[in-house]
Amino acid sequence: MEKQNVKPADGKLGIMVVGLGAVTSTFMTGVLMARKGLAKPVGSMTQYDKIRVGKGADKKYLSYSEIVPLAQLDDIEFGAWDVYPADAYRSAMYAEVLKEKDIEPVKDELEKIVPMKAAFDKNFAKRLDGDNVMVGKTRWEMVEQLREDIRNFKKEHNCSRIVVAWAASTEIYVPVYEPVHGTLAALEKAMKENDTEHIAPSMCYAYAALSEGAPFIMGAPNTTVDIPAMWELSEKTQMPIAGKDFKTGQTLVKSGFAPIIGTRCLGLSGWFSTNILGNRDGLVLDEPANFRTKEVSKLSTLESILVPENQPDLYTDYYHKVRINYYPPRNDNKEGWDNIDIFGWMGYPMQIKINFLCRDSILAAPLLLDLCLLSDLAARAGRFGIQRFLSFFLKSPMHDYTKDEVPVNHLFQQYTMLKNAIREMGGYEADEEID
Ligand SMILES: NC(=O)c1ccc[n+]([C@@H]2O[C@H](COP(=O)([O-])OP(=O)(O)OC[C@H]3O[C@@H](n4cnc5c(N)ncnc54)[C@H](O)[C@@H]3O)[C@@H](O)[C@H]2O)c1
Repeated sequence: MEKQNVKPADGKLGIMVVGLGAVTSTFMTGVLMARKGLAKPVGSMTQYDKIRVGKGADKKYLSYSEIVPLAQLDDIEFGAWDVYPADAYRSAMYAEVLKEKDIEPVKDELEKIVPMKAAFDKNFAKRLDGDNVMVGKTRWEMVEQLREDIRNFKKEHNCSRIVVAWAASTEIYVPVYEPVHGTLAALEKAMKENDTEHIAPSMCYAYAALSEGAPFIMGAPNTTVDIPAMWELSEKTQMPIAGKDFKTGQTLVKSGFAPIIGTRCLGLSGWFSTNILGNRDGLVLDEPANFRTKEVSKLSTLESILVPENQPDLYTDYYHKVRINYYPPRNDNKEGWDNIDIFGWMGYPMQIKINFLCRDSILAAPLLLDLCLLSDLAARAGRFGIQRFLSFFLKSPMHDYTKDEVPVNHLFQQYTMLKNAIREMGGYEADEEID
């Protein structure tokens, strides 16, 4: 089948990650180990999933790279920025996600990944006190420095393309503020005037990436690219954007489980989700202003799957609560509990309990890989702006709220969107309805 105008994945792909913490070091170590044949990239859709193409006698199941030209793991070059100066090896050891035996074989390569100075503002993450930061720069100067970092990295590592992904700490909640975030001109003006209240450091990374012709992915729940000004920039530079917030543990379960309740027309009176988490992410999220950003993201999932307006008898006024508690002994091994109060025939109540003992970064690493590879693919396919087909990987998928577009949170609808986009980019027909 003819590939549909997708440029080939020639040359090297530079993956530059903001934040070289638990997720990023686990991701990089895994890719390097997989390259050596010493580990398997389990959980990665781009490496494992197969999609049906064609119908009837013509039907066959193909992996993504058989349908579209994806960058290969061997062609990836890693770069990073972080507030702390630790290289990727020290970061992986510090994170204690992986055992030493799974890090040592790629120690040399990891040691070469040394973080560049972060565009950072302590007001956006009070609990961090690293000193590997740009000093005395205005927001606009941060943008310029980051643009230079990207250009230098691309040249030094001989990359033909760059993707920038945010896997840094969750910033404090920055609500959308129309006078600054509404248009690109207003955003640029505010950056030049050093409006430190409305311009988060993450926005400087996104602006720099898009201006340098690199797709940008937001893996935390930060507002960053979820504002009309950034949509405008992504259209101007014809670059894809994706976000927000990796859908890994509890929200993955929620977006897969809520459809069970919805499709059987059972009622919901409450859903209480709580977590204990002891890594640095948990520490930052222990700060109420940072948790607020996460809470907004986590809460949005149910509302678009179990919609009160569509089924007032079943979903009006259900109580939805999400909690994250910092608990150091568990480190990266998060434990989540969900208590779901449902009701059935004639309103009789029942309960469901889910206890998920997961590993945060083990779940996030393959998502980071997939989002980077698929954003690079989207750019080569000439897709730009919000990439709704990547909603599958995200807790709070971006959508154009200025046009009353609703987010798609239902896991299986998201999967259909993902498969259809791959089919279309591969020159096949999109052939499943998404509702
Ligand atoms: N692991 C998961 O399951 C999961 C799921 C969804 C979202 N996330 C998000 O991914 C992000 C990374 O998680 P993690 O566990 O790796 O956290 P982490 O604390 O181990 O790593 C984050 C790193 O980002 C750095 N950082 C903070 N601000 C920065 C800035 N302005 N510039 C450069 N570096 C900066 C910190 O110094 C830290 O090293 C968090 O925002 C988290 O909420 C993780």
